[in-house]
Formats: sequence, structure tokens, C-alpha cells
Amino acid sequence: MADTGKSLHEEDAGELSRETRELHRGLASLIEELEAIDWYQQRIDATGDAELRAVLAHNRNEEIEHACMTLEWVRRRSEGFDQQLRRFLFQRGAIVEKAEADAECDGSLWDESMLDLGRTAPPVAPAAPGGV
Ligand SMILES: [Fe+2]
Repeated sequence: MADTGKSLHEEDAGELSRETRELHRGLASLIEELEAIDWYQQRIDATGDAELRAVLAHNRNEEIEHACMTLEWVRRRSEGFDQQLRRFLFQRGAIVEKAEADAECDGSLWDESMLDLGRTAPPVAPAAPGGV
């Protein structure tokens, strides 16, 4: 991210840790990839040109890849993302029911360590294939 003199931070960047600034870059990039997916999808629906539709679908699919790569980068650096993605991704059944069932079993899924989104500890290893 080039320094254009324009700050995208909510807080004074000088008060932010290096980890938080890097996490901001990752999250901002993820937002941009998700916006691109949304825009391509809308253009795919709207265009009347079949060849343009195919090009846009190809581009949308590349943006999905970019978003997933960026999300994985974020997951490796954020305990909160790591825990929640492990909790919700690749599960069967109603998503809200999963959240409510977990809350009934253990109302304290969040712990103090999750406040540190920009943790520097070694990332949690990804789940083995076939497991979550
Ligand atoms: Fe992209």
C-alpha cells in the first residue's frame, strides 16, 4: 500500500502497533476483493453480451480466489477469525442454530486472548484435510 498521505485508519496510525497496521492492510484488501466479487456478479447478471458475461465470470472467480487467500492470511494472524472460521465453515445445518446451540453450551466462547486480533504468536496450523 503506497503512502499517499491519505490515512484509512480510524485512529492515528502512530498509535497503532505494526501488527494492527498490517491487519488493517489485510482487512482492507479483503473488503476490496469482496466488493469486486459483488460488482462482477451484478455485471454478469446485467450484461446482454454472452462473451462479456464469460469474461466477467472468469474475473469474478479470480476475485473469489483472491478473497479466500486474503481471508486465510487474516485467519493466520487473528485468533478471533481463526476460532470463528473453524466454528462456522464447512459445517452442515442451519448457521444460526449452530451459533445458538454453542451459546447454550458455553456462553463464553470468547476469551481474553481474542481481544488481541493482531497477535504475533505462531499461526494455528490449518485443519488436516477432511477435518475442521
Ligand atoms: Fe483481486
